[in-house]
Amino acid sequence: MNKKKLAKESFVTTTEMVLPNDTNTLNNMMGGRLMHLMDIVAAVSAQKHSNRIVVTASVDHIAFHHPIALGDTVTLEAQVTRAFSSSMEVFIKVRAEHMPSGKSAETNSAFFTFVAVDQSGNPISVSKLIPETEEEKNLYDGALRRRQLRLILAGKLKPDDAPELKSLFFDKIK
Ligand SMILES: CC(C)(COP(=O)(O)OP(=O)(O)OC[C@H]1O[C@@H](n2cnc3c(N)ncnc32)[C@H](O)[C@@H]1OP(=O)(O)O)[C@@H](O)C(=O)NCCC(=O)NCCS
Repeated sequence: MNKKKLAKESFVTTTEMVLPNDTNTLNNMMGGRLMHLMDIVAAVSAQKHSNRIVVTASVDHIAFHHPIALGDTVTLEAQVTRAFSSSMEVFIKVRAEHMPSGKSAETNSAFFTFVAVDQSGNPISVSKLIPETEEEKNLYDGALRRRQLRLILAGKLKPDDAPELKSLFFDKIK
């Protein structure tokens, strides 16, 4: 596919309020519930870029830096950082806010990878992505190394075929 789309065209944001069903016994949001929301907002972003059905191929490391309390709002932002052949890396940022006090904090960020598929579930090519801002360009540049790392960890790429990361896997190569 030769079409090109701007990174910002894939931007998606959504805000949810943390309700009792979303929480653990400490009245804080369950990690799994937040990951569910991250998966959805990122999938919508990948769909916006590709105009295709997408499936989650992998989720990179997620850390939970701050608890999110019952009644807080969570705002999720997602944008595609780079498109490869059929896969797209999406960066998700999560911010929690306690409206009565106006206090807010960035609680999470993560990279998810989605693959565009046809009606039979087979990978299908997507448009190239054009980064414009400094942040978009940095994310775009780093996406190649992150892709290599996740494919090595998934056993889909040999460290020998990832020149930029080969040294990290020196012990395994010997
Ligand atoms: C993701 C999926 C479509 C990949 O299909 P596949 O037959 O392995 O396809 P390929 O090996 O040809 O890879 C296709 C693309 O997926 C990417 N990919 C495959 N495994 C990946 C992984 N673990 N992490 C990141 N990307 C991955 C490849 O890099 C490739 O990208 P490219 O076309 O941009 O180069 C397939 O494994 C699948 O359908 N998985 C289940 C998805 C799903 O149900 N998700 C929800 C889970 S509840």
